[in-house]
Parts: sequence; structure tokens; C-alpha cells
Amino acid sequence: MSAHYEASAGAPDPVTDPAPAAAPASAEAAAALAAAAREPARPRLSPRHSAMLAEMGVRPWWLFGAQTEVAPAPAPQTAPARPAHRAEPAAVPVAHPAVAPSARAPAPAPAPAAAPATTPPAPAPDWDALEQQIRSCQRCPLGAQRQCAVPGMGDRRPDWLLVGEAPGEEEDRQGLPFVGRAGQLLDRMLAALQLQRTQRVHITNVIKCRPPQNRNPAADEIAHCAPYLRRQIELLQPKIVLALGRFAAQTLLAEGGCLSPDELHTLPLGKLRGRIYQARIGAQTLPLVVTYHPAYLLRSPADKARAWADLCLAADALEAAAST
Ligand code: URA
Repeated sequence: MSAHYEASAGAPDPVTDPAPAAAPASAEAAAALAAAAREPARPRLSPRHSAMLAEMGVRPWWLFGAQTEVAPAPAPQTAPARPAHRAEPAAVPVAHPAVAPSARAPAPAPAPAAAPATTPPAPAPDWDALEQQIRSCQRCPLGAQRQCAVPGMGDRRPDWLLVGEAPGEEEDRQGLPFVGRAGQLLDRMLAALQLQRTQRVHITNVIKCRPPQNRNPAADEIAHCAPYLRRQIELLQPKIVLALGRFAAQTLLAEGGCLSPDELHTLPLGKLRGRIYQARIGAQTLPLVVTYHPAYLLRSPADKARAWADLCLAADALEAAAST
């Protein structure tokens, strides 16, 4: 699945390849052909890549008209719209509702605190015990405010582990991760990889309880939840980890010893993505890819093409790991 944007030889793609051109019939047609010849070369996409793009609502640049993006197919809206928060560009874990998304370039953000203030929970012996620990956790004030803790869902021997930020309102109500609008996009991203959230995939969050008003998680909340995420990874033994958004990226990259605290403090999300890290978590070393949070992609659809490239990168890493 590599060479995502590169031209490749092969059968013409009905989506991206125009029918063979006849000789120009008019001066306008000749001018149009000349203009087309001045454009950069158009990558050829395989039918699979075209399908992935369509699934994610991404339109290749060479099909752009006045619009830069094909709107994703309208998804049934099962959850109330959530406050516009968790913009990737936001800088600091703050204790108040985050600002509305802006067009600013992503700003550097600090890494989460390294160690929890209190004694970590004893490592749960198995998955059921771990879920029970999470559902009854009162290690930080979020425990008293939640309706449901959200340990995660999916295959317990997954290839893919997707890690988001924190439950929102609907997740808090249902006790399941990514069941709002961002979750619908996440499902489409998975479908683009011919995956679904219950097969070969497990989905969880850095924070297991909803922060009030969907504010950003605080560093001490992340630190209190970190042992749960660590134990989940140890028990699940995924083959690839996909960090969705800045908080997941910082937490997992710090936990996996992938980057120095200085780099984690200064690099914006856009600079963290686009590569395969080797994260040492527990006794495992796992390939880890960083990408944008689906909630951010809903607000910034132009970045869906980059997220698509990240998914391809992760799929490549998984394939490479399986063939060794
Ligand atoms: N956003 C997240 O990060 N996690 C969820 O579970 C839902 C929305």
C-alpha cells in the first residue's frame, strides 16, 4: 500500500483516468488540452485507494473544482452535536472549555505529566478485572462526575488499537467509545481499510471518563489514567497502534519512549504524524502511527487526505510486521 501519491503503471482507473482523448475539435478544446498539459502529473490511484478516498470523503486534487473537498456522505445523526472543542491546534491541556476551532497552524503543546500523584492501581490480572477497575475508578474527580466510564470496545486480540482522547457526552451516556459524530467518521475511516470496530480492531481513549463540558484532559487526569491504557496494551497485544490526535500522540509517544520531553513539548501534531514509531510499552515494542483526531477532521476536512495517508502508512506497517 505504499507509494500512495505516486504514479503507478497499471490498468486505467475508471475514477481517476479520463477516457483517451481524440484530436482537439476546436480552439477551446486545444486550449484546454494545453492547460491540462501544464498541470503537474496526476497520480494514478488503484481502485482500492479510490475507494478509500471516497469512503473518507476525500477528493484527489486533480478532481477539485471550485471546492477542495467532497462533502462526506451525510451520516445519520444519532448524537447531539458536541461543542466545538479538541481542535488539534490547541496548545495546552486547559481547565476550561477549549476555544472554537480556528484556522491557525497547529501550535506546540506540552507533554502530559510523567507520573501520577497517587499510587497506581495494581495491574489487573485479566481483561474483565481491568474493565471492572476502570468502571469503578475514583482516582480523580472525573470519577464522581461521570455517568459511565468508557474502558473501550472491540476485539480483545486486535491487530489495530485506536486510541482517542476522552469520552464525550454520548460516550459517557452509553459507556462506549466514539459513538458520536466523530465516531461515525472513524467508522468510515475503518471501512476504508475494510475494517470494522468489532473485528481486528479495538478502540479506547487516553482518559476513561468524560471531562466536564468536553474540556481538554488535564495532565494529572492523563497521568491517573495512564496505568489503565498501559495495561490494556499489555493485555490486548495489538500489532499496530494508531494515536488519534494530540493527547493520544503525546501520551503514547511519552509512554513508548519515542521522543524526548523536549520534542513532545515543541512539535505540533502535524510534525508528529507521517512516520512509524517503535513504542516500548510494557514488554512489547509496537509500531505506532500518529494521525489527526476524527473530531478535528470533521472541522478541518482538508486534512482528511493526510489522515488517509497515515492510515495507509499504518496498514503498511502492519503488513510489514505480519510478513516478518
Ligand atoms: N472523542 C474521543 O477522543 N473519544 C471518544 O470516545 C469520542 C470522541
